[in-house]
Parts: sequence; C-alpha cells; structure tokens
Amino acid sequence: MAKRKVLTEETLKRFIKRDSHSMLEIAEHFDVTPKEVNKMLLSMKNSNYNILEDNSTMVALGTDINTGVVTHPFDPRMWQGDILKFGFSSDNHMCNNNSREDVNNLLYDIFASEGIGLVYNGGNWIDGEHHFNKNEIFIRGCTNQLKYCAEHYPYRKGIITKFVAGDDHEGWYVQREGINVGEYLVKHRRDLGMNDLEYLGYGEADILLSEPDQKHESWLRVLHPGGGSAYALSYTMQKLVESYQGGEKPTIILAGHYHKLDYSFPREVHAIQMGTTCDQTLFMRKKKIQAMVGGGIVEARRAADGSINRVKVEFITFYDKSFYIGKDKYFKGYMAEKYKKKEVYTEKTPGKPDIKTFDPVGQ
Ligand SMILES: [Fe+2]
Repeated sequence: MAKRKVLTEETLKRFIKRDSHSMLEIAEHFDVTPKEVNKMLLSMKNSNYNILEDNSTMVALGTDINTGVVTHPFDPRMWQGDILKFGFSSDNHMCNNNSREDVNNLLYDIFASEGIGLVYNGGNWIDGEHHFNKNEIFIRGCTNQLKYCAEHYPYRKGIITKFVAGDDHEGWYVQREGINVGEYLVKHRRDLGMNDLEYLGYGEADILLSEPDQKHESWLRVLHPGGGSAYALSYTMQKLVESYQGGEKPTIILAGHYHKLDYSFPREVHAIQMGTTCDQTLFMRKKKIQAMVGGGIVEARRAADGSINRVKVEFITFYDKSFYIGKDKYFKGYMAEKYKKKEVYTEKTPGKPDIKTFDPVGQ
C-alpha cells in the first residue's frame, strides 16, 4: 500500500514550491478535502508565506518576491515644512555574533535625542543562514531570527523605521522558504505591541519627496544593491547611478549592502551609503572587506518647485570594537549621566548578547 502523504505546512510548502497545482490536485495528493487544503493555505498566508494565486484554481509558492521598485506616495508627515530630516541605520546583521546591537541602540538614542521621527534601513537586519555564516550565528531558523529581531531591534517612542529587505541574508529565507520576511518581521513586532516598523519593499523602494502639484518630481530611493565591494568607495554608487536611464534618476539614494559610509554626488544624485552596525565578519575578513560601523542623519530642503536643493549628511561613527558609554564620547552632560546610572550597555560577549534597551526619551 502506498504511504499516505500527510498534509503539513512543510509538505504542502514543498509540493507547491516545485510546481503550481490546482486545489483538487493538492487535495488528491494528500488525500484530504479541498476545505482542509484551504485551511492550511490560510494558515500559511497568516505566516506570510508567499502563496501565489490568480483567477484560475492554480496555487504555487513563490520564492522570488522581487517585483521591481516599489513606489510610495508623498507623505506630509515626514516633513517639517520644507525640511526633511531622517536617520539611517542599515546592515545590522542581528543574530550574528559580530552584530553591534549597542551601536544600533546608541544610534537610535541619538536620533531620539535630536527629535528625529523617521529612520530608514537598507536591509540585512538579520544575518540569515548560509553555509559560510553557520559558525557565527547564535540563532537559527527563519522564524527564530525574525522573532529575535522583532524583540531586539531598537524601539524608541515617536520613531518609525521604514525598511527594505535585502535579497541576501534575510533574502536567503525568501528564496528557500518562500516567506515574505519583511511582512513577517512587521507582524512579529506588532505581536509584541510595537507598531513602529514599516516594510517598504524587497530590494528597492522609491518615496516621492515632492508634493503632487509641484513642477519638479523628486524621489528618495532606499535600496539593497547586489554585488561585491569595489576598490574605490564611491565606485559602486557611481556605476549604479550611471545605470539609471535619464528621467528615472532619484534625487537621493540610500544604499545598504556594502557596509560603507560614503557620500558622493554622481550625475547630480546624492548617493549615500548607510554603513553597518556589525563588526567585520569572518566572511568579510576573508574577502578583505572593511566594515564601517555607524549610521547617520540626513537633512534635506525642498524648493518651491519640488526640487531638493540642499542636502546635509552627517555620519555617526564607531571606530573601536569596545566603546563604552559614559566617557562622554557620544553624549555629554545629562545624557551621559543617564547612561552611567543605568549601565544599560555592556561590552558584548560573542555568542552571549547582553544588551538591554531602554527609552531615554520616553521615560
Ligand atoms: Fe549586509
């Protein structure tokens, strides 16, 4: 007698990942009713599996969620008059032993202390899993890493973090499991009562900076590009901007992925590389890639015609692996005292993250 195939999330995932199947085919394959298949699909959708359906009866699991640049409309809440001020932090690689959660938390404390309500993240918030990072991660499994990120990514009252997902690291889970990791992260964060994360898209997202009735259209692009590091810091940005066709150039680019802090102005595009909050990993050491640990703040002004005519970029940098709060290095006076008293940050022991978060502004 043929062995009965048991319907579970895992078996259904494997079955529809290979090929599209009709509901009837799935029901027959697992020897269950279509109602039971529907129930399982619904539960998978709730866990942000990328279930593909159309007008036919066919169902499939998509492992590529790249649909090109996702565009977002003008959002007046981002602006204070004609000034746009936001923070950026990227490539946090949480769950890797080298991730600097202390740095990311301090960046958010600086953002909060400066009244910044919006932060962009260019992807790689978690380290994911591949054969070359297995010895460096302290949490395994897609759900486990995302839950860890949802729990430990800095939360500050009044700050919204808008992020893209990279097609590497968290993206490896998309390709293997067919899960929309960005939406899944937001869901876990909400389950913990925090409504501060907004998923912008997979790989690339454009945000309209000009008001709809203004003559000149200005766009901000947040992206996680591909490819390795180049011999010159600004070269990757220069090539990226060169690849854009005339008329589709964004005004400001925020790029993750390269773990570099850099600002350049190729073809009149403000190209900002967002740095990383992760020390050099084994993978990077082997490839001789430098990690520039830090983040930053951008302040832009918009002219009456909608063009962005002033841009100020500030980098917040961390040179050493063991910086200590309380030495007046990043905060002075009352903020430093707060850190001293609370002793909130400790030097990170690889494999044993001992980072507590607190809310210096909200408390
Ligand atoms: Fe990265």
